[in-house]
Amino acid sequence: MTEHAIEIEGLTKTYSGDRTMAPKTALHGIDLAVPTGSIFGLLGPNGAGKSTLINILAGLVQKSAGTVRIWGFDQDVNPRQSRAAIGVMPQELNMDPFFTARASLDTQAGLYGVPKAQRHTEEILEMIGLTDKADAYARTLSGGMRRRLLLGKALVHAPQVLVLDEPTAGVDIELRQMLWQNVRQLNARGMTIILTTHYLEEAEEMCDEIAIIHDGRKIAHDRTDRLIGQIDAKTLVIHPAEPASGEVALPDGVELERRADGALAFSYRRGKVTAEQVLDALREAGIRIQDVATEEPHLEDVFLALTRTGQGKAA
Ligand SMILES: Nc1ncnc2c1ncn2[C@@H]1O[C@H](COP(=O)(O)OP(=O)(O)OP(=O)(O)O)[C@@H](O)[C@H]1O
Ligand SMILES: [Mg+2]
Repeated sequence: MTEHAIEIEGLTKTYSGDRTMAPKTALHGIDLAVPTGSIFGLLGPNGAGKSTLINILAGLVQKSAGTVRIWGFDQDVNPRQSRAAIGVMPQELNMDPFFTARASLDTQAGLYGVPKAQRHTEEILEMIGLTDKADAYARTLSGGMRRRLLLGKALVHAPQVLVLDEPTAGVDIELRQMLWQNVRQLNARGMTIILTTHYLEEAEEMCDEIAIIHDGRKIAHDRTDRLIGQIDAKTLVIHPAEPASGEVALPDGVELERRADGALAFSYRRGKVTAEQVLDALREAGIRIQDVATEEPHLEDVFLALTRTGQGKAA
């Protein structure tokens, strides 16, 4: 087993333009290592390059430069092995409308050269909750069912790495929970999972590590708790009207730093504490405020862009 299920170095992609479109560099020399056995989140606003990266992993898009190793196999040196190690649930709903759900899974397994005796078609149907729709044509399935079928198709060759490109975009709560339950089960059995999402809360709940991509560049990568803490951190700097050295009863989750210039810097996570709670605490301590300033991490802009696109997508 390799330490990293996926290793990407200097990955660059330039889509060649045509008469109507200028060439577009969607990835600018990305380095990324995904630990084996993890659930890994890839976040970034619309057009950041997430799907481009995933489609390169899947072998659907040809990279312009860089190296990609999947399960230790270099895509250029061992294309067959690297492809066999990964299953991808794409963002686009492309379906074989005239196949039944069962036939879709079977055909996909055939494409990957899985012998009939080693196929898990019924087990997969069960897992994705389509057993009773096994003989229905894909075109008669609802959007949510089609999405589940796509998940099933990504699993037919029992890959070590499963990649999900926005599995929950436009999906209702029940299906979302089912998908996450499936993902957790697969991960518990040892599968490495990479997923993209616009929902920060979702990534926070699911992922061990998160990387943020913006304009084709990796701008952050850390353990989820550390990264979310960084994005969500806020510092409220209060300049008191008179020197304030007395006690301040702090709300839970707030840290106070007394600065040399007499300012009181309150740090907290915006998701957990409001500025009003901090101001109330000051009032109760009898501290009058002369001036207030806020300090936010530089990831703030990206976070805003993420949540904005997230809302757009959820609508
Ligand atoms: N086939 C293509 N030809 C030309 N440009 C493309 C092609 N596919 C993607 N792009 C461009 O590459 C950039 C990255 O797109 P990509 O689909 O990878 O973003 P994304 O992060 O997946 O976005 P979203 O959150 O909307 O799914 C965008 O500017 C997009 O217009
Ligand atoms: Mg995408």
